[in-house]
Amino acid sequence: MLVLRGASYRYAGYAKPAVHDIDLTLADGEIVGLVGANEAGKSTICLVASGLAPASIGGGLTGSLTIDGEPMAGRPVHELAARVAVGFQDPATQRSGIAATVFEEVALGPMNLGLPAAETIARAREALGLLRIGDLAERDPSRLSGGQGQLVAIASLLAMRPRHVVLDEPTAQLDPEGTRLVAEALRSLAGTGTALLVAEQKTDLLDTLCGRVMVVSDGRIVADGPTAEVLGDERLEGWGVEPPSRVRLARLVQARGLDPALVEAGA
Ligand SMILES: Nc1ncnc2c1ncn2[C@@H]1O[C@H](COP(=O)(O)OP(=O)(O)OP(=O)(O)O)[C@@H](O)[C@H]1O
Ligand SMILES: [Mg+2]
Repeated sequence: MLVLRGASYRYAGYAKPAVHDIDLTLADGEIVGLVGANEAGKSTICLVASGLAPASIGGGLTGSLTIDGEPMAGRPVHELAARVAVGFQDPATQRSGIAATVFEEVALGPMNLGLPAAETIARAREALGLLRIGDLAERDPSRLSGGQGQLVAIASLLAMRPRHVVLDEPTAQLDPEGTRLVAEALRSLAGTGTALLVAEQKTDLLDTLCGRVMVVSDGRIVADGPTAEVLGDERLEGWGVEPPSRVRLARLVQARGLDPALVEAGA
């Protein structure tokens, strides 16, 4: 379980916090979505929830980050990394830069955890298989398309079987098929008890993936609740977030005087 309480964070060299008073709880096995307009504070919240802000990038944090009941203030980056796996918006920033092949890249995580070679290889194979990128195994990780790079970055993360995961727009560069594979992989990870925070612009993905969704606007959490409730909130567009297609369709149907239950039932 990962808990942020009253967290406000300002970047180094800035007087004002970028995010204010963030309360966030990720229970084991839960997938929580985080949506908001550009510049709203999604990436900043991801950095704070993973402890990288301030441990890695400096700046000032008030409030607290607690993981499995232990306060994380003052912990070194390597200790945070062992507890929370983080996926960034740009997969290139995540590449090790030392692996010659995609297989090695994905195997590095479990290897660094000190797992035996056989277990490391099995996990890397499994992660590549889950995302259907086994055919990339022998490729040079620095010579992939954006979408392939994103899938490799997520496979690397899955191979470590982390207990807590923070993902910043994990499907930004993926087509619908890639997005679907990532959603499936994240669901199966949550099924093993891992807690996930997923920042996304794609509300259709969050609609099917998350039990709970939070909306961030201007650095503050303005809505937090069950997915259907939050993504169906009339104020969503005002916060700069496009409702999922299910909600847009239901509204259209309703505006025409038809029964919205037709849409809810998937008719
Ligand atoms: N490294 C940084 N240093 C200073 N300010 C930053 C830094 N990164 C982000 N900010 C500021 O913090 C605020 C929130 O930005 P953030 O990147 O968290 O938004 P976001 O919701 O992730 O946006 P996007 O959808 O564009 O990814 C913005 O005002 C932004 O300018
Ligand atoms: Mg961002």
